[in-house]
Amino acid sequence: MDDDVILVTGAAKGIGLATVKQLAPHVSQVVLNVHHAIEADEWTALTAEFSNVTQLVGDVSDESIAAELVATVIDQFGRLDGLVNNAGITKDQLLTRMSTTDFTTVLQTNLVGTFNMTKFALKIMQKQRRGAIVNVASVVGLHGNLGQANYAASKAGIIGLTKTTALEGARRQIRCNAIAPGMITTDMTAQLNERVTDAALASIPLQRFGTPAEVAQAIEFLLYQPYLTGQVLTVDGGMTI
Ligand code: NAI
Repeated sequence: MDDDVILVTGAAKGIGLATVKQLAPHVSQVVLNVHHAIEADEWTALTAEFSNVTQLVGDVSDESIAAELVATVIDQFGRLDGLVNNAGITKDQLLTRMSTTDFTTVLQTNLVGTFNMTKFALKIMQKQRRGAIVNVASVVGLHGNLGQANYAASKAGIIGLTKTTALEGARRQIRCNAIAPGMITTDMTAQLNERVTDAALASIPLQRFGTPAEVAQAIEFLLYQPYLTGQVLTVDGGMTI
């Protein structure tokens, strides 16, 4: 673990940034993929706390950029031991009113982005005969959700992709698992109105939203538990019991 290089996508904030902070004390290098460069002040604060973080700007939904991101990690650090596919977006609307563009944009970022990064990282990991991938899905990918046909389809797709990656990676000891968070306090859930938030809270047995740090702990567990592969771990305060 001490020598490991881990790449976390969509790591500028929320669950991605919490995952960086969870991993940085335990590994050699954490590479943050960010869609747009992190604000200078925030980056100064992060690098003051952790000397072993680097940021790489790039859109994971673009195949050639995804290839470049993985190639840059290898050029700079010589290895890639872990990939956390966290980048994700929502564009909520009831299905009958959802534009095809909003459907495909969410699929392109969440599902195709995860596929792109997995494809290039897996090639490296297979050569190394070492590596682990954690995909950030959602409980919505297991159960669906009103107004989230695009998002639910993308997250259900990530679960299928996870299981297939686990099967194809296993011969070279590469593991792949997914995490399915419930309601977590990030900018993504801050967009929701009070009615939706209250209804969500009422459905959570632990009676609160989770924190990004709590999801990050579970992501680290999935990265390093050596006999776990092809699984989906829900981190949802009991929402899906
Ligand atoms: P967030 O909105 O705070 O973070 C999402 C990150 O992904 C941002 O840094 C954004 O710049 C990045 N991103 C978006 N498109 C990208 C692209 N094409 N290339 C590179 N980076 C890109 O949201 P949050 O909540 O931290 O979400 C992280 C992951 O967790 C997402 O996959 C989301 O679907 C998932 N999730 C979140 C839940 C929640 O309640 N907040 C629940 C279940 C899953």
